[in-house]
Amino acid sequence: MAALRDDGSAAAARVRLRRDAPYRLGIVLGSGLGPLADAVEDAVTIPYADLPGLPVSKVSAHAGSLVAGRLEGVEVLVFSGRSHFYEAGDAAVMRNAVGMLKHLGCEGVILTNAAGSLHPEMGPGSLMMLDDHINFSGENPLIGEATDGRFVGMTTAYDLLWRAAFERLAGEAGIPLARGVYMWFSGPSFETPAEIRMARILGADAVGMSTVPEAILARFFGLRVAAFSNITNLGAGMTGDELSHQETKDMAPVGAKKLEKLIRRFLRDLQDQGRALPFTSP
Ligand code: HPA
Repeated sequence: MAALRDDGSAAAARVRLRRDAPYRLGIVLGSGLGPLADAVEDAVTIPYADLPGLPVSKVSAHAGSLVAGRLEGVEVLVFSGRSHFYEAGDAAVMRNAVGMLKHLGCEGVILTNAAGSLHPEMGPGSLMMLDDHINFSGENPLIGEATDGRFVGMTTAYDLLWRAAFERLAGEAGIPLARGVYMWFSGPSFETPAEIRMARILGADAVGMSTVPEAILARFFGLRVAAFSNITNLGAGMTGDELSHQETKDMAPVGAKKLEKLIRRFLRDLQDQGRALPFTSP
């Protein structure tokens, strides 16, 4: 359980003490995207342990700190390392972290993950932008939330305008960007070949162990969401090989480089546009 659920207000206050700025965007880094955190300028790095209510991740490829600073001229809050449901069975483990973004004035969040692909032609190193997701975990981070706010609409969970912007920017930059449906499995064991066949039948394009609870929380807090899968492998049973976390770590940097380029372009665009169009909608 997250030790304290205050929706991140105490953590936000702590961040403001360390570095106050007109923050606009949160970025949650999945495996292999660490270098983006290193690129943040005027950066203040705050270990999650110093931010009340933020979870301290123990996954080996995930450091656990918030990097507050500027990227392409935009004030950002980069989560270098995130906690997963499978660590302690708490789907709301990232609740304070996501809520903190709202308290710090962010308009939205970019979520990234490492994922297995269900399409041989979308192989390791590919990038997939989420159009939608399937929550296959049976869990929800809003279970126990007492307000009517818990009935969050998920029809356009992944922001339409942001998706259009990313698609345009990927085209302009010549970065191949697939689009599809991400299916959340609880993990931490990988899927079986039968589960992968099922996922395909049910309409998924990629599978992974994160992002969905964070997307639900972000919509609960009224943040826009864009999310990307960095494909590190084909799903279980699609090749002769066993899956491993080492493979995830080894392959993640390939797609991560493209994703970093794409996110930088998005931020540059956001900076050019100021706070207005085309990124805001009612
Ligand atoms: N399944 C679930 N999570 C993953 C995978 C996968 O194949 N690859 C990277 N994260």
